[in-house]
Amino acid sequence: MAEQTFIMIKPDGVQRGLVGEIISRFEKKGFYLKGLKLITVDRPFAERHYSDLSAKPFFNGLVEYIISGPVVAMVWEGKGVVATGRKLIGATNPLASEPGTIRGDFAIDIGRNVIHGSDSVESATKEIALWFPEGPANWQSSLHSWIYE
Ligand code: PPS
Repeated sequence: MAEQTFIMIKPDGVQRGLVGEIISRFEKKGFYLKGLKLITVDRPFAERHYSDLSAKPFFNGLVEYIISGPVVAMVWEGKGVVATGRKLIGATNPLASEPGTIRGDFAIDIGRNVIHGSDSVESATKEIALWFPEGPANWQSSLHSWIYE
């Protein structure tokens, strides 16, 4: 199966009307959308998603932020999508993100950094299983041969 990553537009991104812009950036790059849902998660679910960070001082604030409103959970597929997805997103601290990246263009504070992307193929597999227990959609783009040689 082709590589997949988990991408989440956080509550600030939804509230600020950035959903279309963000989806458009992934689409225009050539990645395929394989899962999409608008969902408000509860505290236990958010704590599970961020369980690796439970010892961090910002953990509670991060969980509060993620449960503060609906998020857009997505699965994107394509060659190198985990690492390249992170490049499209930009550095974790938006003030250090390059202009042209999503955080570089649309965010200022690390605690309002608009979007999450899996940091490895292994994390992506876990996160997709958590957020899409039903599994991603199974469809093939008719443009495939115009994107891949
Ligand atoms: S760390 O400390 O290196 O493990 O953290 P990092 O990999 O940079 O970031 C992991 C996620 O934690 C979020 N984060 C924060 N949220 C709120 N406040 C502060 N200070 C903060 N620092 C890091 C960061 O945005 C990452 O979230 P995701 O959703 O994975 O992007």
